[in-house]
Amino acid sequence: MIDSIITGDSIEVLKTFPNEFAHAIISDIPYGIGYDEWDVFHDNTNSALGGTSLAQSNGGTLFKRRGKPLNGWSTADKKIPLEYQEWCASWASEWLRVLKPGASCFVFAGRRYAHRCIVALEDAGFTFKDMIAWKKNTAPHRAQRISEIYKRRGDIVQADNWEGWRVANLRPIFEPILWFQKPYKTGGTIADNVLEFDVGAWNENALKTYCEPFDVVNHSNILSVPYNKCDHGLHITQKPLSLMKCLVSLVTRENAIVLDPFAGSGTTCLAAKKLNRHYVGIEINSNYAEIARKRLEYKVFTLLGD
Ligand SMILES: C[S@@+](CC[C@H](N)C(=O)[O-])C[C@H]1O[C@@H](n2cnc3c(N)ncnc32)[C@H](O)[C@@H]1O
Repeated sequence: MIDSIITGDSIEVLKTFPNEFAHAIISDIPYGIGYDEWDVFHDNTNSALGGTSLAQSNGGTLFKRRGKPLNGWSTADKKIPLEYQEWCASWASEWLRVLKPGASCFVFAGRRYAHRCIVALEDAGFTFKDMIAWKKNTAPHRAQRISEIYKRRGDIVQADNWEGWRVANLRPIFEPILWFQKPYKTGGTIADNVLEFDVGAWNENALKTYCEPFDVVNHSNILSVPYNKCDHGLHITQKPLSLMKCLVSLVTRENAIVLDPFAGSGTTCLAAKKLNRHYVGIEINSNYAEIARKRLEYKVFTLLGD
């Protein structure tokens, strides 16, 4: 299983893996906020993600499809965050089991439900070490001017009164990367743990190699790593190769084993391979698994990245 992409459900596949074999888990898990089948973990037959409420389908509203539960959640909508947490809990203990003591685990989780992921992994026995901010160079922004709504209604007084005010969010220019650590071996210090298992410390050279000068000088937990033009086209949520290399080299040394249970197009695994680490990727979607394999065999030349 070392240096391969396995097609399957990682929740099941991981049960067959040995204890304490991996030096790190680095994974961009489903955020539970999208419409893709692999990103939906709630059992909401009512109307939430991707659906329409009765009011919407009867017309008259601006939004035909609900991207996220808005004001006045239904009972089913309200359960979605907890259902996401329960899904995280369904694999968190296996992640802990397969990691070496003191090993790190980086999880990309969306801003909306990251807290649910933290609770699930903490309950499973991980230490929540930090929330790193990955600062992107671009992010789509949709925040409607409320004055425009009043203008459309013909209410010029309120349009003036609310000039400069918007609804919805600020530009989401950072994504959280949750940093967990498996507790180091009892009876010793972290320094002993590093010598015995080769994990538990972090490498400042990773910042020097992949991040902006400001992050490096300050050992900042804001990682400014931009997308390159090669970081697109293989997966809808493809992450920058440089960012994954930064994370791989931050917590592992050469020959370490890096595991990604939600491998997508294999960006984590490719970063590990390029840095002379071993990798194991698990991906439930056979098309993505095949793309990942091709990337790792260097058969997707034009999209390889650096
Ligand atoms: C956010 S994407 C990862 C994309 C990746 N960062 C990349 O650069 O290509 C998460 C992936 O997890 C996969 N997935 C969802 N549930 C899974 C499961 N139970 N086992 C394995 N893979 C799963 C999805 O098919 C999806 O490709």
